[in-house]
Amino acid sequence: MTTVRTITGKAKLAGVMGWPIGHSRSPRLHGWWLQHYGIDGAYVPLAVAPERAEQAIRALPALGFRGCNVTVPLKEIAFRTVDRLDDTARRMGAVNTIVVAEDGALEGGNTDGFGFLENLRAEQPDWTAERGPAVVVGAGGAARAVVVALLDAGAPEVRLINRTRTRAEELAADLAAVGVTGAVTVVDWVSRETALDGVALLVNTTTQGMAGQPALDLSLRALPVSALVNDIVYVPLETPLLAEAGARGNPVAGGIGMLLHQARPGFKAWFGVEPQVTAELTRFVLEG
Ligand code: ATR
Repeated sequence: MTTVRTITGKAKLAGVMGWPIGHSRSPRLHGWWLQHYGIDGAYVPLAVAPERAEQAIRALPALGFRGCNVTVPLKEIAFRTVDRLDDTARRMGAVNTIVVAEDGALEGGNTDGFGFLENLRAEQPDWTAERGPAVVVGAGGAARAVVVALLDAGAPEVRLINRTRTRAEELAADLAAVGVTGAVTVVDWVSRETALDGVALLVNTTTQGMAGQPALDLSLRALPVSALVNDIVYVPLETPLLAEAGARGNPVAGGIGMLLHQARPGFKAWFGVEPQVTAELTRFVLEG
């Protein structure tokens, strides 16, 4: 049986802007929620080239959009384009959620850190950031969101490890410059294994372990067996890092939950309902 979903002329509009956008799972995610909550609305993929992103973002109020998500490689352009930034987006240097305010102004937020923390809490309810030092591998945009979120949540120390040390140093300096306080220690790539000693959390934010990429080159020998291990990669769902951590008895959290949870604040702002992340939703998003 075919289910036909229709929207009316009053439908609430939002979407996700990126380049390319064909692989984004966000339309499927928000589409499921719209259907589940019976909302007259649409969430569409918006393929926007970087050189036209500012123009496209500025057009949102004129088109009657309530806002949109922004993904790779447009998050920094969105950061520079919006009229107002919330404090989290300001410190993350990137915008992933735009809300058109009552007065037509573009408000930029960043929910990646929220999604990251909510995913860990959902997967491992007894985990707290205060529990001990965290190791973050990588120094790109995802690492920045993760480091800010961990420090905000009370992590006593974040050990930042990147193959190219200078990028990790630049990230630490950028964060200090925007007023992110907390202990960020840059660790040399060659010392990455000993840096796992005594930590409560290990997060991979690099592309290593993704389908088609080699596994992250990191021995877990020194990692306490109590440490939570998280990979933000979610294709495959179980990366070699997560498989190895699970096999030695560490609690693990996969990456798909970060995508699902980061979507919640935008959905609430555009469509007026606080959506839930459920097993059924997760299955549906992964099937697409
Ligand atoms: P994003 O902004 O999405 O986090 P990115 O800026 O492309 O992505 O960052 C990718 C991360 O994966 C970087 O930290 C990169 O390390 P370098 O700064 O040294 O390039 C890391 N990475 C990529 N290939 C790697 C490899 N073979 N070994 C270790 N780290 C790697």
